[in-house]
Amino acid sequence: CIDIAKLPKETGCFTYDPGFTATAACKSAVTYIDGDAGVLLYRGYPIEQLANNSSFLEVAYLLMHGELPNKTEFESFEHEVTHHTMMHEAFRTFLYGFRHDAHPMAMMVGMLGSMASFYHGSLDLEDAEQRRLAAIRLIAKVPTIAAACYRYSIGWPIRYPKNNLEYTTRFLHMMKEVPSEPLELSPTAAKALDLLFILHADHEQNASTSTVRLVGSTGANPYACVAAGVAALWGPAHGGANEAVLKMLEEIGRPEHVGAAVEKAKNKESGFRLMGFGHRVYKNFDPRAKIIREMTHKVLGELGVNDPLLDVAVKLEEAALKDDYFVQRKLYPNVDFYSGIIYKALGIPTEMFTVMFAIARTAGWVSHWLEQQTDPEAKIGRPRQIYTGYAERDYKALDKR
Ligand code: ACO
Repeated sequence: CIDIAKLPKETGCFTYDPGFTATAACKSAVTYIDGDAGVLLYRGYPIEQLANNSSFLEVAYLLMHGELPNKTEFESFEHEVTHHTMMHEAFRTFLYGFRHDAHPMAMMVGMLGSMASFYHGSLDLEDAEQRRLAAIRLIAKVPTIAAACYRYSIGWPIRYPKNNLEYTTRFLHMMKEVPSEPLELSPTAAKALDLLFILHADHEQNASTSTVRLVGSTGANPYACVAAGVAALWGPAHGGANEAVLKMLEEIGRPEHVGAAVEKAKNKESGFRLMGFGHRVYKNFDPRAKIIREMTHKVLGELGVNDPLLDVAVKLEEAALKDDYFVQRKLYPNVDFYSGIIYKALGIPTEMFTVMFAIARTAGWVSHWLEQQTDPEAKIGRPRQIYTGYAERDYKALDKR
C-alpha cells in the first residue's frame, strides 16, 4: 500500500497502470489514432490518402518535419538520404562476427547499436542540425544494414547501395540481387513494399516507440535509442507478429482446419492466440489492415502468385469475425495479419518480416526522438511501482538460517 503522504508534492495522482492502458507518457504531434473509429493520421493526413498518393520517403519527411515537402525540399531530402546509405567498411568485420544462423533481428539490434561507435563521437545533442543528420543517417542506413544482415545469414556477398535507385527499390536490390546475375525487379513488387513501409512508418506510442523515447529521455544517443526500439519490436506481441502470423497460417495449413484454430484460440488454457488479431488501441478495424487486405489480393494477382495461405487467411478472418468471442472482445485483424502474405509473395523470407517493419518504423522512431529533444516538458522516464515485497527485516548469519 502506498503512503500518499510520502509521495513528492508534484506527483498529484499515483496510478497503478500495468501496460500503460490509460497513461500518457508524453505530448506528441506526430501521429493521431482514434481506436474506436479506426482512424490513423500522420501529421493530420489520413493513412488512406498517404497510402494512395505518397511514397515512403515523402512520408518519412512528413513525419520528421511535420509538413509535406515541396518539390525542392523533397529532392534535397532524397539526395541527402541517398548519399548516406553507405556503411563504414568496418561494419563488415563486426557483422561477420555473428553466428551464421543468427536471426536477422538479433543482428539488427547489434548493428544499429554499433552505429553509435561510428557516429556518436561527433554528435552534439544540443545542435539541431546534428540531430537532424543523425535521423537522416538512420533512415538512410537501416535498409543497407538490413540487407547486409540477410545476405550474411545466407552466405551471400554484401551488396553496396545503388544510388541511382529509389529508396525501396534500392533496398530490394541490395537484398535480393543474386551474385553475378542481373536482377529484374517488378515495379509491382517495389510499389507494394513501399506501401507496406508507409503503413508501418509510425503508430503513436507503441511499445517500440515508447522504448525509443524512454531510452531517449536519459540523453542516450539516437543510435542506442533506435537499437532499443528494434529490440522491443522483435517480440511476437509487437512487430514479431508478422512472422508469427505466417507460421500460424502454415501450421493451420488448409481452410478446413480454420474452425479448430479458432476454437483453440478461444481456450485460454491452450496458450494459443490468433496472431495478427487484436490491438491495444484499435477496438474497431485497424485501418492499415483494411488497406493491406485489399492490396494482398491485388499484388498476388499482379505477380501471378497463387498462395493457398491466402485462402486460409481469408477463411480465418471470416470465422473470427463471426465468432462471439472475438466480436465481444473487439478483436479484429491488425496490420500484421496480411502483411506476411505479401512479403512472402515478394520473395522475402519469413525471418526478415520483422526487419521490414523495423526499416519502416525507423522513420517514426527518429521523428519521435527529434520531437522529444525539443520538448520543454520532457523528463527522464522513471515509472513507479507498487511494492509487494517484505517489510524491513534483519539480516541473519548463514549458520542461523
Ligand atoms: N487471440 C485470442 N484471444 C485474444 C487475442 C488473440 N489474438 N488477443 C487478445 N485476446 C483476448 C485476451 O485473451 C483477453 O481475453 P479476456 O478479456 O477474456 O481475458 C482479451 O482478448 C484482451 O486481450 P489483452 O491481451 O488484454 O489485450 P492487450 O491490449 O493487452 O493486447 C495484443 C493486445 C498484444 C495485440 C493482443 O491482442 C495479442 O496478443 N494479439 C496477437 C499478437 C499480435 O497480433 N500482435 C500484433 C499487434 S499490432 C503491432 O504491434 C504491429
